[in-house]
Amino acid sequence: MTGVTATATAAAGTDASYQAVFDAAVAADERIEPRDWMPEEYRSSLVRQMAQHAHSEIIGMQPEANWITRAPSLRRKAILMAKVQDEAGHGLYLYSAAETLGTGRDELLDKLHSGRQKYSSIFNYPTLTWADVGAIGWLVDGAAITNQVPLCRCSYGPYARAMVRICKEESFHQRQGYELLLALSQGTPDQHAMAQDAVNRWWWPSLMMFGPPDDESAHSAQSMTWKIKRHSNDELRQRFVDIAVGQAEGLGLTLPDPELRWNEERGHHDFGPIDWTEFWEVLKGNGPCNEQRITQRRRAHEEGAWVREAAASYATKHQTQRSRSQSQSQSQSQHANGEATA
Ligand SMILES: [Fe+2]
Ligand SMILES: [Fe+2]
Repeated sequence: MTGVTATATAAAGTDASYQAVFDAAVAADERIEPRDWMPEEYRSSLVRQMAQHAHSEIIGMQPEANWITRAPSLRRKAILMAKVQDEAGHGLYLYSAAETLGTGRDELLDKLHSGRQKYSSIFNYPTLTWADVGAIGWLVDGAAITNQVPLCRCSYGPYARAMVRICKEESFHQRQGYELLLALSQGTPDQHAMAQDAVNRWWWPSLMMFGPPDDESAHSAQSMTWKIKRHSNDELRQRFVDIAVGQAEGLGLTLPDPELRWNEERGHHDFGPIDWTEFWEVLKGNGPCNEQRITQRRRAHEEGAWVREAAASYATKHQTQRSRSQSQSQSQSQHANGEATA
């Protein structure tokens, strides 16, 4: 939807006519842009989702950053550093996209640090061996892509556009994880066992990344009506399982689910029950690393205060210099005009 269309059409109208313009735009698969009228619940729901997404990107840097200094080769180290930096960038795009809805980064970070907003629970699991870097890339980034590709068509323009670039980078993350695991899987028996162990530990938490089953998902139905979300949690989870099975075979690794098998009738893989008690416990803050992740985040924020202050005073200095030279050139041209008139 163009800002002009929405504003012009709804300018003389009531809330009901604004709503009608919004509904029509969503129904026609047009994009809602920052200056368009939107229902308050749509705005707050988007801010909540984008903030949680942004928080997950920056907290997600921690488990892997842990391995940068211990990467087994220069090549692996360079790849991992690039990946972790990408995640910082993803956080940046998403906080900026949330800002277009009138909520600043400071406010969102404050909510993260005080526990009023969440990040993806997957990052509350520890990275015990080098193979975890591979399992995270393959499974966690893989699940993220499955979730995020449909968000490129999300009804809110700035979010959708941020997702296009994020998804391109996530594909690289998934690929590097797969390639890392393949090298380990085809290595010594110990390396193979290490890869298998990492997959065993990350498989079920990755399936939980799609959120609770559809009938227990609080925001799903409304998000789908607004076309923020395009597919249900269970649909996306199934899509991920179907893709992962073939890839696990390619890796020569098994997925830790004895009930996993092809169902000819459904045209999908059946899989075993997910331990939702574990999911809710981690979400409540009782996962293995919840405390560590948020403490580290708060510390990084405090230690970075001087950088934010320096950047702000640099920006103010340049702003002052710019307005001073603008007013100087204005008074010079007024002077020159005055002389010419005289
Ligand atoms: Fe990311
Ligand atoms: Fe990623």
